Amino acid sequence: MADIESLLKEKRLFAPTREFAKNAYWSPRQVAESRKLAAKSPTRFWARMAKEHVSWFRPWKKVLDWKPPYAQWFVGGKLNVSYNCLDRHLEGPNAWRRNKAAIIWEGEPGDTRVITYGQLHREVCQFANVLKSLGVTKGDRVAIYLPMIPEAAVAMLACARIGATHGVVFGGFSAESLHDRIVDAGARVVVTADGGYRRGAATALKPAVDEAVADADCVEHVVVVRRTGEPTHMTVGRDHWWHERMAGASATCPPAKLDAEHPLFILYTSGTTGKPKGILHTTGGYLTHVAATTQVVFDLRDDDVYWCTADVGWVTGHSYVVYGPLACGATTLMYEGVPTHPAPDRWWSLIERWGVSVLYTAPTAIRAFVRLGEEHPKRHDLSSLRLLGSVGEPINPEAWMWYHRVIGGKRCPIVDTWWQTETGGIMISPLPSSTPTRPGSATQPFPGIDATILDETGREPKPPAGGFLAIRKPWPGMLRGIWGDKQRYEETYWSKWKNIYFPGDGAHRDERGYFWIMGRIDDVMNVSGHRIGTMEVESAIVAHEKVAEAAVVGRPDDLTGTAIVAFVTPRSGFEPDRALASSIRDEVTRHIGPIAKPADVRFTDALPKTRSGKIMRRLLRDIAAGKTEMGDTTTLEDYSVLARLRESEEP
Ligand code: PRX
Repeated sequence: MADIESLLKEKRLFAPTREFAKNAYWSPRQVAESRKLAAKSPTRFWARMAKEHVSWFRPWKKVLDWKPPYAQWFVGGKLNVSYNCLDRHLEGPNAWRRNKAAIIWEGEPGDTRVITYGQLHREVCQFANVLKSLGVTKGDRVAIYLPMIPEAAVAMLACARIGATHGVVFGGFSAESLHDRIVDAGARVVVTADGGYRRGAATALKPAVDEAVADADCVEHVVVVRRTGEPTHMTVGRDHWWHERMAGASATCPPAKLDAEHPLFILYTSGTTGKPKGILHTTGGYLTHVAATTQVVFDLRDDDVYWCTADVGWVTGHSYVVYGPLACGATTLMYEGVPTHPAPDRWWSLIERWGVSVLYTAPTAIRAFVRLGEEHPKRHDLSSLRLLGSVGEPINPEAWMWYHRVIGGKRCPIVDTWWQTETGGIMISPLPSSTPTRPGSATQPFPGIDATILDETGREPKPPAGGFLAIRKPWPGMLRGIWGDKQRYEETYWSKWKNIYFPGDGAHRDERGYFWIMGRIDDVMNVSGHRIGTMEVESAIVAHEKVAEAAVVGRPDDLTGTAIVAFVTPRSGFEPDRALASSIRDEVTRHIGPIAKPADVRFTDALPKTRSGKIMRRLLRDIAAGKTEMGDTTTLEDYSVLARLRESEEP
């Protein structure tokens, strides 16, 4: 509550400058018209977006078929996402884009590649033919496990071209996580690399793939990009070098004419229970949503150099590094490495050298730069920037103001965009020509998105008020389900209220009706903008042979937003010492990946439980956050546990 109160005291308003409004892709008048149309008929608004931003081989018969909780958008329409991202920029009035940079890429060691639309089209066609030669056909799944190199975009677009469904797995996930995702999706082919560069060193990826596919019967072939040149084991018959296969591949590959509801990708994300959920996105609605929001929210134009810093392993990398910008014919920048290599000014140097004009990043990165000091950005000319974006977690007003002042030179609008893996694209965000922004608020829903806050019973409180974030009408980029788990889809998102989508976030609306997203209200933690389920981490910890029981909660952290705290009871006879804490962290890294490693490991001889044996996470959260006042403890089975827990600390 204290956080909410301090946020709501934020009364500063930053109105769009007249200059920006005058030149915007959507002028204030167009914004007003769009809002009016969308309020009257969301389907007519989205149909307009689908016509303006997407090219169709065959028009749809019906905009929306809504049988709650299942939506079909643009029913009967035929299109191809890779055609929209490539071919249409090489023909007709946009043919001049053939020699425009589609991707500007910089590797961590400093090597660079600029790939034009013409070249990207060629590579995508070739790789689509490579996939075909390996037996991949429409509807097959292909897993992609790559560093941030252009081949990631090429592989995604090649799948889209032939109607294969891709499942990108973040390169920082462990072999076990990769294995689970490959098996759940039933991937026939895995696309990977020998490795990539991080923090100045080559890190291998291929060994994780070898481990992951060893007992994954579905996998027939592995294609390996040579990135680092380090010695790499190749299994004859199964593994193929990317460059060797590409050398013989034809550059002609007509795009498949796919149904609007054809599955484009599966992307796994953490939930409250059990294993990660394979979020399914399809073709026509998804592309309409991401193309329209990329163009309008980022005010994207042909002369922009657009940089979204997300990894392709996350949904932001799908929607706003690859599909959105390329559908708009934009120049999208990809950077392979960490922000601080070889020096803390790497990002600012990139912006200066490439003339980046639109920057889209995460609050955790901004907070890290605040700590590093202003001198690093100050050393560079950042005057090419004209718009800034934020995504992934609530941005605290201090970080917002620093971003505005130090990076944006007080002239760039900031779009704080709320959305999720499940929503496919941006849902709540300022529109840069029109929305006065308030530091820390994502402001208003995008036209055509019916977002509000509701209470437990489905009543809508009058702002200013708090409640659960809710989306009342279907939207084109919405998930179409959880891969292979209908019931979980219905229960997770649609069971709180009737026919209303529940994203799992709490929110406040202020007196202007602006949204202030307060974060997850379930057992999902948002660490540096990445979703991690408490249950996933717990089951990794209890897999440790010396652990009897564990409970994981999040605590507030200045840098990462949330830090993971693990309360662990060792099996009897094992010392709760530093060595055990560190081997518990290794266990988590092995099962999930380093992003899920607990910041604190606190040993305790017992966990606070109710009389029926349920762990009282609320109390653990308070203890983890260092609070001394506990709420209601009447259901606690053993009071003395609390005092002992408070004293527990990292050995
Ligand atoms: O809690 C919200 C937070 O991130 C969650 C979605 O995480 P993920 O599916 O990994 O996608 C992240 C990138 C879209 C949301 O449920 N979140 C995302 N954007 C914001 C945010 N919280 C506050 N403000 C945001 N702008």
